[in-house]
Amino acid sequence: MGDTDMTAGDPPDGREVVTPLALVDDGVDEAALRPRTLDALIGQERVREQLALVLDAARARGRAPDHVLLSGPPGLGKTTMAMIVAAEMGVPLRLTSGPALQHAGDLAAILSGIGEGEVLFVDELHRMSRGAEEMLYLAMEDFRVDVIVGKGPGATAIPLEIPRFTLVGATTRAGLLPGPLRDRFGFTAQLDFYAVPELTAIVRRSADLLGVDLRADGADEVAGRSRGTPRVANRLLRRVRDFAEVRAGGVVDTEVARRALELYEVDERGLDRLDRGVLDALCRRFDGGPVGLGTLAVSVGEERETVEEVAEPFLVREGLLARTPRGRVATAAAWAHLGLEPPRAPTAGSRQAPPAAPLLPGLLDEDDPAS
Ligand SMILES: Nc1ncnc2c1ncn2[C@@H]1O[C@H](COP(=O)(O)OP(=O)(O)OP(=O)(O)O)[C@@H](O)[C@H]1O
Ligand SMILES: [Mg+2]
Repeated sequence: MGDTDMTAGDPPDGREVVTPLALVDDGVDEAALRPRTLDALIGQERVREQLALVLDAARARGRAPDHVLLSGPPGLGKTTMAMIVAAEMGVPLRLTSGPALQHAGDLAAILSGIGEGEVLFVDELHRMSRGAEEMLYLAMEDFRVDVIVGKGPGATAIPLEIPRFTLVGATTRAGLLPGPLRDRFGFTAQLDFYAVPELTAIVRRSADLLGVDLRADGADEVAGRSRGTPRVANRLLRRVRDFAEVRAGGVVDTEVARRALELYEVDERGLDRLDRGVLDALCRRFDGGPVGLGTLAVSVGEERETVEEVAEPFLVREGLLARTPRGRVATAAAWAHLGLEPPRAPTAGSRQAPPAAPLLPGLLDEDDPAS
């Protein structure tokens, strides 16, 4: 699978393997379920409107739109939106990712082949090498790359003009992008988790496309357990469809959805095995915290990036976990969700979970240099 494979739903580095419900057949379906126009996108009203304006204005001026930065947790539609930008502008999309740009030369090769007005989509922008990053600065601003010819003391940089293109960058960690890079994007969108009614609309649309007999109550049940994430909604729909076809005559209603999702260990609140593993470790092993992210990750046998980028944003949003200067803390709701009693009655200043305020820079927990 090359970097330009437009049907790839996920980064090529195997990150998706961590999600317990990922199955091989899903990549094909996922591509089929991607909305292809801004109008077909569900939810994210504000971002959609802003992006529509950027694109309309560019079209009216007859030139490539400003560079676009999309950030947010996995599965909220960053890749989908990048593809839509290209489709709406009627230009080809070139797809690559930060980890694939380990040398400036990798990026130079792509940029020197880019056509007027084309969209270059760089997924996982925060994982690009320094060399590529510096080359990108120049390309984004001056539409120029310096191609290095030769090696050692005799090497010379030959400036090469490139056509105006639109960079669409996606990242799950906008905070990790250097300021100068972030500043070069003309439009930045922070994608947020979806509300249940939006997810309901998404699973209904997907069910239509996949030919699943999904009843209204079944759609609500799947949407409510999708952890605010369209990709999860689609994935759960496929698992529920399997279950319905094999055990329930193909019809998906509340009862069938509930039984299927229990089987796949997705609870009523949408927490999956990883989410619950994190909360469980936090409460049972660390008395509710505070505990550092690295320690927490080790105790659930996951990479810290996975815990931080996949599980944590949802748990924080659900008010189950709080990030504090001293580490991660379980909230009262977390104990209740696991059906556990907090170790002792919270007294002021001790066990009481602090409010789920964003972690202040400079006040990081001990093993967390990168928040
Ligand atoms: N607004 C939306 N409306 C309908 N479907 C959506 C929407 N956003 C995302 N999806 C569906 O969710 C799936 C995942 O979206 P996408 O691949 O764009 O997420 P992503 O943000 O790029 O994730 P990652 O960070 O893991 O790359 C898509 O295949 C698409 O079907
Ligand atoms: Mg993506």
